[in-house]
Amino acid sequence: MSDSLFTSVDQHLSALLAPEDDALLHALQAMKDAGLPFIQVSPSQGKTLQVFARSCRSKRILEIGTLGGYSTIWLARALPEDGKLITLELDEKNADVARSNIAYAGLSSKVEVITGNALRTLERLEKENTAPFDLCFIDADKEPYTEYFQSCLRLSRPGSLIIADNVVREGEILNAESTDEKVKGVQRFARFLSECSKVTASIIPTVGEKGYDGMAVVVVN
Ligand code: SAH
Ligand code: DHB
Ligand code: MG
Repeated sequence: MSDSLFTSVDQHLSALLAPEDDALLHALQAMKDAGLPFIQVSPSQGKTLQVFARSCRSKRILEIGTLGGYSTIWLARALPEDGKLITLELDEKNADVARSNIAYAGLSSKVEVITGNALRTLERLEKENTAPFDLCFIDADKEPYTEYFQSCLRLSRPGSLIIADNVVREGEILNAESTDEKVKGVQRFARFLSECSKVTASIIPTVGEKGYDGMAVVVVN
């Protein structure tokens, strides 16, 4: 077993079940042109998010961490005509690239990109008593994953799904001595999940073109 086998299989599965169309390829090219980091979900992971969004008939989706809008496009395509996706991004430049990619994909009427620190925006959404989200996707900075999750819980309803990316981190989740703030963030998050009686939670390890990682998949009780 080797990394190249995992990558080949991932590419095979993506070609079969998650082929990228013009809008997704355009988004990747625009991100590259703008010098954004190549840390978006893989095509298969994007498709998996779409499957989850459809499985709970999502009409309202919350995404934390937009980057260039690549995962946003996969998720927004699961929405019905009157569906809505709100995505939160700290960096103005990333948000601009995302808005343009979302427009190119014909999804502007369904997607709102809100710039600013997600913790502040979430606080505001909670205060505004916004309607509950059917699915939340957490994929921003890793240190406050637990706080993002707690906020998502308050913005959800029983049956809502909460998904969090990058929680295995090449196995570093096992390293109790790690001083990496991202690792410590996901370790704290996994512990919180294990103690949280309000949800039913699992972590699915993933291996593929994005290396060895995992996604937390959580349903609100
Ligand atoms: N979901 C995207 C990838 C997101 S990468 C995809 O798969 O296509 C993580 C993003 O989170 C980056 O764009 C980064 O700028 C953003 N981010 C980091 N800290 C943040 C914060 N405090 N609030 C909002 N966004 C943040
Ligand atoms: C990083 C963030 C991500 O969301 C990801 O999928 C991969 C890497 C990062 O901050 O390095
Ligand atoms: Mg990620």
